[in-house]
Amino acid sequence: MFARVAASALVIVTLAVFDGAAAQTANQPPDTMAARVEACTPCHGNKGEGTSDVYFPRLAGKPAGYLYNQLLAFRSGRRKYPPMNYLLEFLPDPYLESMAEHFAGEHPPLPQPAPSEVSKDVLAQGELLATSGDAGRNIPACVSCHGPGLTGMQPGIPGLLGLRAAYISAQLGAWRYGTRTAKSPDCMQLVAGHLTEADVTAVAAWLATRPAPTNPAPVPKGTYALPFGCGSQPN
Ligand code: HEC
Ligand code: HEC
Repeated sequence: MFARVAASALVIVTLAVFDGAAAQTANQPPDTMAARVEACTPCHGNKGEGTSDVYFPRLAGKPAGYLYNQLLAFRSGRRKYPPMNYLLEFLPDPYLESMAEHFAGEHPPLPQPAPSEVSKDVLAQGELLATSGDAGRNIPACVSCHGPGLTGMQPGIPGLLGLRAAYISAQLGAWRYGTRTAKSPDCMQLVAGHLTEADVTAVAAWLATRPAPTNPAPVPKGTYALPFGCGSQPN
């Protein structure tokens, strides 16, 4: 009699332990990519296509190396935006690398360019800077690094299409004021340092009016030589 009670008690205890273990596994989110990027998509879109907020950038299709460099920069505070700085604070390198690869591999269509709020003259000045630069003021053409089609180059140079003017001018401003920096030599800091406020407005406005190219993919590494070195684009 005693033995039988003890035996059934043991069964109950064992069941309870088993249940507990099952409940615990069920409460832990599975470590899938969808779960990893759940915190990111409200601001960057389900496929990294961006949202209606003009300061929240598109991530989709940018070179993985570029995206990874940005995640490292936010984690270390070299690039500042508190919600992202906190979110990435304790994430290990391989985790960041796999999220970068995930968004680099998404290809939602580029948005329709927004109608511009600036005058034709300003747009023309923006186009001149982007395509020819201004040698007299030491401003290289943006296309000399971002590519003739502005689609960027693997692994570290982002394309400049599908971004809103507000975001582009905020980033150029951040380089001018030193709140965004990239790996040394930080070529974008040199470029942005030569731009005036008016240049920034013009070039950001013109870039935002560019239609999507047939092939928006970044060109392979080494497709063209850069006018000078960039720490984030190894030779
Ligand atoms: C609260 C909104 C928000 C959340 C959440 C968020 N981001 Fe961001 N993210 C931003 C903003 C805003 C920027 C641009 C910040 C700046 O001004 O430099 C940015 C920039 C980036 C960039 C650089 C893009 C570029 O073209 O330079 C990457 C990469 C990125 N985020 C990835 C992520 C990932 C991965 C997550 C999730 C782990 C995430 N973000 C979560 C708002 C957010
Ligand atoms: C010498 C090469 C070089 C030139 C010239 C250059 N860029 Fe860049 N640009 C880069 C590199 C490299 C990066 C990525 C930096 C990093 O890793 O954060 C970059 C990043 C950017 C970004 C950030 C994109 C994003 O998604 O946040 C913007 C905006 C930008 N460049 C605009 C311009 C404009 C406008 C011009 C022309 C006035 C220009 N660049 C000229 C090399 C260049």
